[in-house]
Amino acid sequence: MDIFEIDGPVELSGTIEVAGSKNSTLPILAAMILPGGRCAIPNAPHLADIESFGTLLESMGAEAQREPDGTLRIDTGPLDRPVGEYDIVRKIRASICILGPLLARFGRAKVSMPGGCAIGDRPVDIHLRGLRAMGADIHLEEGYIVAQAPAGGLRGAPIFLGGPFGTTVLGTDNIMMAATLARGTTVIESAACEPEVADLAGCLNAMGAKIRGIGSPRLVIEGVRELKPVSYRVISDRIEAGTFMAAAAITKSRLRIDRCPLNEMLAVTDRFRQIGISVEADGDGCEVAYAGQVRPADITTQPYPGFPTDLQAQFMALLALAEGNSVITEKIYPDRFMHVAELNRMAAHLRKEGPSVIVEGVDELIAAPVMASDLRASAALVLAGMAASGTTTVQRVYHIDRGYERIEEKLNAVGAKIRRVTV
Ligand code: EPU
Repeated sequence: MDIFEIDGPVELSGTIEVAGSKNSTLPILAAMILPGGRCAIPNAPHLADIESFGTLLESMGAEAQREPDGTLRIDTGPLDRPVGEYDIVRKIRASICILGPLLARFGRAKVSMPGGCAIGDRPVDIHLRGLRAMGADIHLEEGYIVAQAPAGGLRGAPIFLGGPFGTTVLGTDNIMMAATLARGTTVIESAACEPEVADLAGCLNAMGAKIRGIGSPRLVIEGVRELKPVSYRVISDRIEAGTFMAAAAITKSRLRIDRCPLNEMLAVTDRFRQIGISVEADGDGCEVAYAGQVRPADITTQPYPGFPTDLQAQFMALLALAEGNSVITEKIYPDRFMHVAELNRMAAHLRKEGPSVIVEGVDELIAAPVMASDLRASAALVLAGMAASGTTTVQRVYHIDRGYERIEEKLNAVGAKIRRVTV
């Protein structure tokens, strides 16, 4: 198992490039089931989760291959076994979004029920409710979701996707994919508006789907008879970009961030500016600079276009060093606070109260051995490690490899001192 040893404090400078979006690539890989043929993603990021998704598709009969130039090629023509096995699905929750495409293409599917994870229970009831509204018969059998489309295939229907914590991103993806090949028109109300959902819709339309209202909470999908295989470039990863911006801010540095999708990050850039960090658009990227102080702020995570839950932990690390007190409230995953105890081990002053954390700004963080619990929590620990005095060791960095491409190499190239050590 690998650990990171992080020497701090460091100052960063130079240019860092954002990779293709993980959360676009995963559902788009699922969408490639629909046309049954040779598809490609030229800029798919090199991440453990993406490789696992390729393995999932292979386990169903598809062929997956990474070209030397980085292009990920998937041939779903030979895919003939619409079964998502527990051993693969349990590693990667996004596997649930094979359910809609399998059902649409084969009329039946069997997919392991994904488990909970460190950030909460993460149920899939809304996904199933949507597919049932399209006529699917769904029941649970030994931990598997067993789904059968009605004779003649799924039927378009009006579907409301709101739940207790707002809408659902992968649920919207699942229903939208199923609806592309359904008979008639599907209207999704309370659809997730995340840029990754819009990216998937763009990919489906490139395949020949008829989706309107992209990027809005009301999607109208006219079913078509068939889709054609495509090669599709995914958008840049706004969460990786936000993490790099936070890296510049927490190390009191200036960084140029290439391929930064600023237009999809208004809530995030607004917060950076509010706490005193300068963010200036520049070509397809931006310049981010510390300008003498980090002011406190109150942050509430919300569905897009609100502040993303996937940057909550990284902002907590940053605000731990602010000149004053902040309140961070989690509205998407009320239990997504595993990083609080670890940051406190590094001399942060964080106090959890229900779905909020009171962040009392301190003058400095001090290195400590800490444990990564989930992807974004581990990113927060890497940020804190670069700012803290001494050598921080982060255990279980496999969490970070799931969602950040070579993070230590990218950060070391701009001045960080992070060693990956296999123990
Ligand atoms: N929810 C339900 N029932 C459902 C589905 C969701 O109650 O059937 C609840 C969830 O428990 C949660 C809320 O609704 O409280 C929102 O969850 P959502 O379904 O939107 O999350 P997701 O689609 O499973 C994606 C991202 C997450 C990101 C969330 C929210 C992917 C692969 N995952 O998950 O990304 O946090 O949307 O934006 O796209 C990450 O990259 O670190 C990550 C966890």
